[in-house]
Amino acid sequence: MTLVPCIDQLKSIQFELYKITPSSPLKVTLCLGSSCHSRGNRRHVETLRRLSAEGDLEFELTGSLCLGRCSEGPLALFDGVAFPIGPDCDIAALVREHLAARVPS
Ligand code: FES
Repeated sequence: MTLVPCIDQLKSIQFELYKITPSSPLKVTLCLGSSCHSRGNRRHVETLRRLSAEGDLEFELTGSLCLGRCSEGPLALFDGVAFPIGPDCDIAALVREHLAARVPS
């Protein structure tokens, strides 16, 4: 009989947890109110549409009316959580980061 140290068992369990993938695609919502639209989300929409068409990343893109936080815009929601993303952000990189950070629901 071989005894397995507890730390090795924990590593094994952690490895298995990391293999679980979320069952639904990442939901990305861009605020398309006039302020966010003119301050960067117009370009971000085009970038994400192109990224979605390429099919490399799995996410669901929607738009929203003004979220009432115009001074922080442009805003994006990732799985329903709002982030001020700035006009010059790399939106594709943000989507990749959020996909990588997702935990199973
Ligand atoms: S236009 Fe986006 S929060 Fe108002």
